[in-house]
Amino acid sequence: MRKNLIIDTDPGIDDAVALITSFFAPNIDIKLICSTAGNLGIDVTTRNALHLCELYEKNIPVAKGLPGPLNRPLEEAFGVHGAMGFGDYVYDGVKTKEIDLPAYEAMHKVLEIYPDTTILVLGPLTNVAKLLLEYPEDSKKIKEIIFMGGTKDDVLHQDKPYPEFNISRDPEACEIVLNSGADVLIIPMDFGHYAYIDEEEIKRIRHINATGKLFAIMYQNYKDGHVTDGNAATHDSCATAYIIEPTLFKLEYCKPCIKYYDGKGVLVSNITKRKTRWRLAVDMDYDGFKNLYYGLMNVAKTPNE
Ligand code: BDR
Ligand code: CA
Repeated sequence: MRKNLIIDTDPGIDDAVALITSFFAPNIDIKLICSTAGNLGIDVTTRNALHLCELYEKNIPVAKGLPGPLNRPLEEAFGVHGAMGFGDYVYDGVKTKEIDLPAYEAMHKVLEIYPDTTILVLGPLTNVAKLLLEYPEDSKKIKEIIFMGGTKDDVLHQDKPYPEFNISRDPEACEIVLNSGADVLIIPMDFGHYAYIDEEEIKRIRHINATGKLFAIMYQNYKDGHVTDGNAATHDSCATAYIIEPTLFKLEYCKPCIKYYDGKGVLVSNITKRKTRWRLAVDMDYDGFKNLYYGLMNVAKTPNE
């Protein structure tokens, strides 16, 4: 049986790769895509999500998210993803439109119809926090909230946790999600800068098919500071990999909280042996991840291929 899924995303290069590959995963059924303000402003991320659905002829409703974080101004990341979010890849406008409901209302409706739906968040947690503020009882309907955010405390060997983008852009939203009563799984950023796509791979994927070429064009100017220039991080694809193939990951229970350093919110995971509502991915099978990534890229055909 396919897993019902809502993807909340701020495309964004690694979001685009994660979305496209998950379009072709046989075991998931994407009921809704919500755009979120993060890497770029909400109009750009919404248009980018619509464009990807058009490009692959996927008839998935797209709902527009809130214009910015709950309590703070939006800080975009166009330096990383390019002015329009897809690096060197540009497209003409879109023909389709987002649905009439705002993202949190659209999520609520999906949960009414499919109460076992998982919500996967690839950007700041603003929309899901708004859903849980407006409809707190939905925390019991959501199968699990899985988000790409934070870092594994021990990995970066820093004296204080790193303000990872998705968390630090809207830490108050993350606190609401963590304290909502819903089951939560955290996929930290670290996997995506170890499981990077290197320069040689980027040269090769250009020739695999139109999807490989699209990824290569997006990657050629992807300026994620966690990998050296010319290589491409895969943060958000690591999170979709968990949905598609959970056996690739080792998980631990944790008791996460947000701490503030100089006004910046960081996620501290606090691993524990006791069973809790929160789990943290602590290890990933990197070869297995690459197999999954390339397997999906190979079958990700554009309609004209
Ligand atoms: C996260 O930040 C964004 O730039 C990426 O899309 C990813 O979701 C990594 O920290
Ligand atoms: Ca993202």
